[in-house]
Amino acid sequence: MFDLNKLANPAYFADNRMPAHSDHQYFANECEMNNNEMSMRKSLNGLWYFSYAKNLTSRIEGFEQTDYNCKNWDTIRVPAHIQMEGYGKPHYTNTPYPWDGHEKVNESEIPQNFNPTASYVKYFTAPENWKDVFISFQGVDSAMALWLNGKFVGYSEDSCTPSEFDLTPYLVDGENKIAVQVYRFSSGSWVEDQDFWRFSGIYRDVYLFTKPQLHIDDLFIHAVPVNDYKDGKLTIDFKWNNEDAKNLAVKLTDNEGNVILDTVQENITGATSTFTADFTDIKLWSAEHPNLYKAIFTVTDTDGNIMEIIPQNIGFREFKMDGNIMKINGKRIVFKGVNRHEFDCYFGRAIPTEKIAHDLEIIKQNNINAVRTSHYPNNSKLYELCDIYGLYVIDETNMETHGSWMVKGKVREDANTVPNDNPAWHDIIIDRAKSMLERDKNHASIIIWSCGNESYGGKNIFDMSEYFRQTDPSRLVHYESIFWNRKYNGTSDMESQMYTRVADIKKFLSEHRDKPFICCEYTHSMGNSNGGMHKYTDLTDEDPLYQGGFIWDFADQAIWGRDLYGNEVMYYGGDFGDRPSDYNFSGNGIVFADHSPTTKLQEVKFNYQNFVLTPSETTVKIVNKSLFTNTNEYDLVIALAKDGKEVYTTKTTADIQAGQTGEIAIELPKFGPGEYTVTASLKLKADTIWAGYGHEIAFGQYVFTCAADEKPATLPPITLTKGDVSTGVKGEGFEVMFSSDKGTLTSYKYNGVEMIEELPRLNFWRAPIDNDYGCGMQFDTAQWKLASLYNKCTDMEIIENGTQSATFKFTYELATKPTAYVVVNYTVTGDGTVKVDMSYDKVEGLPNIPDFGILFTIPVDYDQIKYYGLGPCDNYIDRKEGAKLGIFTSTTAKEMQPYLLPQECGNHCGIRWMEVTDRRGRGIKISATTPIEASALSYTPHEIENARHHYDLPRPHHTIVRASAGMYGVGGDDSWGSPTLDEYITKNETKQFSFEFKGI
Ligand code: GAL
Ligand code: MG
Repeated sequence: MFDLNKLANPAYFADNRMPAHSDHQYFANECEMNNNEMSMRKSLNGLWYFSYAKNLTSRIEGFEQTDYNCKNWDTIRVPAHIQMEGYGKPHYTNTPYPWDGHEKVNESEIPQNFNPTASYVKYFTAPENWKDVFISFQGVDSAMALWLNGKFVGYSEDSCTPSEFDLTPYLVDGENKIAVQVYRFSSGSWVEDQDFWRFSGIYRDVYLFTKPQLHIDDLFIHAVPVNDYKDGKLTIDFKWNNEDAKNLAVKLTDNEGNVILDTVQENITGATSTFTADFTDIKLWSAEHPNLYKAIFTVTDTDGNIMEIIPQNIGFREFKMDGNIMKINGKRIVFKGVNRHEFDCYFGRAIPTEKIAHDLEIIKQNNINAVRTSHYPNNSKLYELCDIYGLYVIDETNMETHGSWMVKGKVREDANTVPNDNPAWHDIIIDRAKSMLERDKNHASIIIWSCGNESYGGKNIFDMSEYFRQTDPSRLVHYESIFWNRKYNGTSDMESQMYTRVADIKKFLSEHRDKPFICCEYTHSMGNSNGGMHKYTDLTDEDPLYQGGFIWDFADQAIWGRDLYGNEVMYYGGDFGDRPSDYNFSGNGIVFADHSPTTKLQEVKFNYQNFVLTPSETTVKIVNKSLFTNTNEYDLVIALAKDGKEVYTTKTTADIQAGQTGEIAIELPKFGPGEYTVTASLKLKADTIWAGYGHEIAFGQYVFTCAADEKPATLPPITLTKGDVSTGVKGEGFEVMFSSDKGTLTSYKYNGVEMIEELPRLNFWRAPIDNDYGCGMQFDTAQWKLASLYNKCTDMEIIENGTQSATFKFTYELATKPTAYVVVNYTVTGDGTVKVDMSYDKVEGLPNIPDFGILFTIPVDYDQIKYYGLGPCDNYIDRKEGAKLGIFTSTTAKEMQPYLLPQECGNHCGIRWMEVTDRRGRGIKISATTPIEASALSYTPHEIENARHHYDLPRPHHTIVRASAGMYGVGGDDSWGSPTLDEYITKNETKQFSFEFKGI
């Protein structure tokens, strides 16, 4: 019988659960296999009867009995999180356990009142020909007790690996009643303190299954290259459900459909058996070339009757430590990785499998070659697809105990620190490692086992690492958290750290050369981030021991909903009344919570390129950094643009082997004076499963100018009208006005249309980004916000230059201490051009200047953007490697990035000109001889800053055109203290910049 007191006992984590085994699928015959229909499996997904209790003490009892009628209960969908189906609420906390502040709970205890408990019931009739009936729960959070027809069957913890039970002993003819009680918190919750949304429920598939009379319970494939990576050796260990004699046919087909092995092992007896075979000229599996062989295992009895057919993908590959370097098939691996939580805004972690494929497409399209399943084993489908798509995987045990040893960023080791060296926690965590390894071991894509995340050091985790090593010597073992306690430094085969700055990695590596170094998490992609990421990817070329990293992380974790007015909104932590909460800290994705791309991907894709293309006017140099791919697998496309417009393009191929550098001669036609951009790109020659023909996988640009003989333009004359406070300037088709009272430009009419809706504003501020808040940048530079809001014109001067031009010089005093001044000159010429020169003489004692420019407020109708500068996605001084120089179009709406917390976005560097027009093409154009930074958004920085959610923003009523000498880089080494790298900080120094604007 199930004693509820056991729930809190870490030694009690599985009762009558079947042993973990490989995730292979089996079919009754070939036809079933081809149609992917399994007659030996019956899904129990769908509606279950459901009763929800707010806490453990008020849970329903006795409901498992057959005479307890549950058919009048409410129903709930399975698989799903209870909290996404209207019961209780989703809860987001990072490090603190969710019960923190609700109930005081010590290690080996669980909350009693803050512990919602759900009872599920499902009725079924077993298929007639099934002798044995088993049940599989692929994922239940956090613990489940199971009854069949009133009899206790078993219990299981570990939210992220399967729990399987034998129902046969309690099965009856006709209707059977399955009863499951799901506990939101159990002893397992102590080791499931990941930084994610806290949910509970049956959230992965549930199915019944039976086994044929002769059945492979488990198989373990060892497919390794031999003879200098030319040939292959295959060894497979089988575990059988009984010792009866059977035959095993093994057929192996390559990816072109050629049968390379077809053989039968006869009369196998015993509970285990081994199959071996040797192959010549094997095609190895790697992320670059995910060659898979398809094996078909057919089990027959000795009379030749088919018992089951098992299809299985096999990838031959070798991953090992060679000295102090990790190598894949003999080559030094570089992880161009991303961490991925299994999460989406509509389903939480109960995501439909189609969505996994969609994620992997995005991942492959952006040159990412590795995924860490942060921080738990994923849905099995993920690994199957990573084998097929070609991704290196770090598979991570479902273990994190962050809140038990770290408080507000500081280590606090005490009696409640788990697992540490506490023997009570030994078996439960080894069990988790075993459940993962046994399920996932046949996936070529998995090359590293990870002992979980942020669980401190200690003997128990060291034992886990040894379990991995001994059970599976073909992979390496990863663990980061020994960083905080080095007692068992041997736990991890590689040095793994998170968010270490490049300078500190270099320092560490200068002192420690015994292990390779990876960042299991780096470039924290929270909000507008990923600045300076290229410094890390550069390091992979500089030090062989630095073998790359995994971006934190793939997708924002937020939950879709509607606001009070019915508009769609992404809710984040705290929005559900969930406390304690870490609010928007779970939004760190390179894609948004609905998995639509962020602009940050532009940079990730470039930094993760396997090819460095450096064009010139006559050549393209290519550094092929891939391990197994010749550049001739792609088209090499050369495009020439004059002043941003493409004037010539040609396609060729380059034959440069993996690891080599080569140069291709190119011949470009001449098109007279102008600024030219040569873009060299490698593009897909054909469709793949993750991108179509023509998809660009790498590019490089070169810019040069052909000078023209400058002929001074003869401009029409201007006339000046000086009033008491206003001075008007008129010319052909335009009229400008300046006011000594308002202290600025008050009107710019072009072709009769007023463009200056509000007075121009000096701007030294940006709406703080998450990284600014993290390091207190907004606090340190706050004077410049005041200066942006509060400044006064202290002097206006008019400098006339006959009928040629007139300059209006304004001096502003800023609300800073000590006082600073900014001078703005507007020079009007007869063609309607207004040249703006803005300058500041450094005042000692003032902080760094977040931005330096002017905001023009124009009518909201002008929402169409076209620019010649860096794009197509927004970019910043420290995040512009992946941007291209070109002419791009956008809109003010598109430029506003839907980060969970509204913040600075939409900036473009290298702006030669930007037009902001209405849909008929009327508007203004700003241009600059020395390129500037610019943006056009619907809000001022202050409006953006005031909003905690997008629904807090006003409805657009203006377009804010911003011209700037340059703003702070976005930073992103982490979002809790690391400032923008010094070289990308716009300092308090003397500044001067110029641009022009004109109506169009
Ligand atoms: C790491 C942790 C992640 C996440 C990240 C911050 O410490 O492993 O799970 O919390 O920081 O976003
Ligand atoms: Mg954590």
